[in-house]
Amino acid sequence: MAKIGIIGAMELEVETLKNRLEGEKITKKTGMEFHEGKLNGADVVVVRCGIGKVNAALCVQILVDIFDVTHIINTGVAGSLNAKLDIGDILISKDAVHHDMDVTPLGYKPGQVPQLDVFSFAADDEMIKLATEAVAKACPDVHSAIGRVVSGDQFISDKAVKDKLINTFAGDCAEMEGASIAHGAYLNNVPFVILRAISDKADDSAQMDYPSFEKKAAENCAKLVEEFVSLL
Ligand code: ADE
Repeated sequence: MAKIGIIGAMELEVETLKNRLEGEKITKKTGMEFHEGKLNGADVVVVRCGIGKVNAALCVQILVDIFDVTHIINTGVAGSLNAKLDIGDILISKDAVHHDMDVTPLGYKPGQVPQLDVFSFAADDEMIKLATEAVAKACPDVHSAIGRVVSGDQFISDKAVKDKLINTFAGDCAEMEGASIAHGAYLNNVPFVILRAISDKADDSAQMDYPSFEKKAAENCAKLVEEFVSLL
């Protein structure tokens, strides 16, 4: 039986899911609250990991070691790096890359983690397929795409930085946890997918757009996740 770890960085990204849990049991660890229960008939653990890559990686390891999750979903909002992804649209991860990993002086590609046998962390094919079905069912009016998530400990709000993430990493959206979650899932051999709703364009307008659109974007993602877990 599947047990699905659902990670969001911010309260807004997980509160709807937590409110929908049945038979909820809460465990506190590392400053995080792990909410176990049934969501739409599926066994899940919903947790707000906090912002950034360290929080996200710690959270994955706890979900694996203590809660024995079989699958991991990372949900939340992201800045768009792809002109075809507008505010409110949904990006389903094909794979994820750390955009702030740079060991190029030693001959590695930008983003590559030294001594690992992969460059990017590939999401699980079956989870990608089911996520696509879940978007069509839960948010039929929302445009979605499958693409690359690039993550770093930075809020991207500068056109030149955005262009670098597009040109160097071929990223479709930028956020601050996904690659870390993907990296942790990869090391633990746990299938994962990242589902992100676009809250801003990761350029000079991002500081204005993000606060206006994050709520709507997070709501879209919550609806999608609720549908998705019942399909797994
Ligand atoms: N999450 C949502 N928008 C973002 C951005 N522009 N940069 C990093 N993380 C984000």
